[in-house]
Amino acid sequence: MKLEGLLVDLVPLGERFGALEHRWENGEAAFWGDVGDRQLLSQATVKRRQEERAAREGQHLQSAFGIQTKDGAPIGAFFVGDIKPHLRLAILGAQIGEPEYWGGGYGTDALLLVVDYAFDWLDLHRLWLVTMSLNARVMRQMQKVGFALEARQRRATLADGQWHDLLFYGLLREEWPGREAMVERLGLQAKG
Ligand SMILES: CC(C)(COP(=O)(O)OP(=O)(O)OC[C@H]1O[C@@H](n2cnc3c(N)ncnc32)[C@H](O)[C@@H]1OP(=O)(O)O)[C@@H](O)C(=O)NCCC(=O)NCCS
Repeated sequence: MKLEGLLVDLVPLGERFGALEHRWENGEAAFWGDVGDRQLLSQATVKRRQEERAAREGQHLQSAFGIQTKDGAPIGAFFVGDIKPHLRLAILGAQIGEPEYWGGGYGTDALLLVVDYAFDWLDLHRLWLVTMSLNARVMRQMQKVGFALEARQRRATLADGQWHDLLFYGLLREEWPGREAMVERLGLQAKG
């Protein structure tokens, strides 16, 4: 399956991405994605996590996508995780592993594709995610795309020795105007 956006496409998270994950998981993106944790993961651990992920996908408890630019460069991954079929909800997780692509609209393009997929294809009714109050890019993204800030846990995570709040965001299906409407509202355009 391929979900086609304006700046990125979402494609199966196959070997091309798998080969990059060890670097991504030990880099700056993981610090932001893991709310301030600086981890050092071995190749074996990354491989085990990939296998666990494949098992969850097999049980339809997770959907994973590779994020690639329109010219086919793999830059990150997007997850619809912890899918609870009986409650029709899931958590989103995004990681653009190549920091030079941060802040350029790629992540928002990917988010619009994933939200549409989660509501229209997976038939979920609620999406949520958690980030830390240091993560200005995610906070801005949430504001742009219409997620509500539903909870704040004060001083709940440490990032490089400083306390930060954990922010929980949620979006309900009836609040989602659809990808096309969001593209228009945000004025997103393909790079010329
Ligand atoms: C989170 C992530 C997927 C977002 O994708 P992205 O391509 O960087 O996001 P976008 O460029 O679409 O949107 C980010 C917004 O934050 C703004 N922004 C960037 N740096 C900022 C800063 N320091 N302060 C305030 N706003 C900032 C951008 O200008 C943009 O807003 P705009 O469209 O109004 O200009 C990506 O940054 C990433 O993978 N980061 C590392 C991992 C991570 O944080 N994962 C999320 C865990 S919840």
